[in-house]
Amino acid sequence: MESVFFITGSSRGIGKALAEAILAADEKNWVVGLSRTNSLEHERFVFVETDLSKEVSQVAVELFKQYQPKKKIVLVNNAGTLGQAAPMGKMDNAQLEQAFQVNISAAAVLMNEFIRAYAEGPAQPLILNISSGAGKYPVDGWSAYCASKAALDMLSEVAALEAQKKGNSLKVYSLAPGVVDTAMQGEIRNTSKEDFSRVEDFRKMKEEGILASPGQVANKILILLQQPERFEGVQQDVRHF
Ligand SMILES: NC(=O)c1ccc[n+]([C@@H]2O[C@H](COP(=O)([O-])OP(=O)(O)OC[C@H]3O[C@@H](n4cnc5c(N)ncnc54)[C@H](OP(=O)(O)O)[C@@H]3O)[C@@H](O)[C@H]2O)c1
Repeated sequence: MESVFFITGSSRGIGKALAEAILAADEKNWVVGLSRTNSLEHERFVFVETDLSKEVSQVAVELFKQYQPKKKIVLVNNAGTLGQAAPMGKMDNAQLEQAFQVNISAAAVLMNEFIRAYAEGPAQPLILNISSGAGKYPVDGWSAYCASKAALDMLSEVAALEAQKKGNSLKVYSLAPGVVDTAMQGEIRNTSKEDFSRVEDFRKMKEEGILASPGQVANKILILLQQPERFEGVQQDVRHF
């Protein structure tokens, strides 16, 4: 095995399109997908059924023991949930906790174990966290989503700084993918105006056909994964590629 890409949320949307793009790009690429369900069949794809809102620590330890590629080892923390779109004071606490668990706690645990297992080589290690523009400004109704994506950006910054101080070759990025036509966008459009004041803007974007397809975004992400030396700085946005 030359190169292995672990991708969370590989069952649909951006994660699935990225897995397909990576498998098509090079016949030496393997993809290990982690999500609760699976819709991808390929001879170089391995599915690991995982609920990231539950205990991920043991899954990570066991998983990273199994793969020792020679060339490239990549972790893409892509799985994410909008959570319950509603103002604070109206939210269900269990759903609030679950959004943080999937969007930030699971990603942090996976990064911790990935760095422990792979930061010192021999394969070139890279971590890509799929963040959001919503981590950079407040959006009413999206408290857990905005806060967990802001945390993901900072987690990435700290990991990159630590790698630089240690002098190891680990690269870390936090990437905003733009507005992409996935199930998550469908969920956003189904929110009530009372819970999310900007819902009409999102309905309009869909009507006007300005959402990117998951495949288009996956092809842009692939450029970063294949040529990281072209990307300076931790926080990236596919709209600037
Ligand atoms: N679409 C956009 O416009 C947009 C914009 C900015 C950022 N993003 C970010 O891009 C990433 C991908 O989003 P998407 O739009 O492709 O969303 P999506 O179509 O809703 O897909 C979400 C993925 O995450 C997985 N997932 C969710 N909860 C999980 C859990 N508890 N355990 C394991 N896997 C879980 C899902 O798999 P299962 O359901 O099979 O578990 C699915 O594969 C997310 O981090 C999102 O925040 C998207």
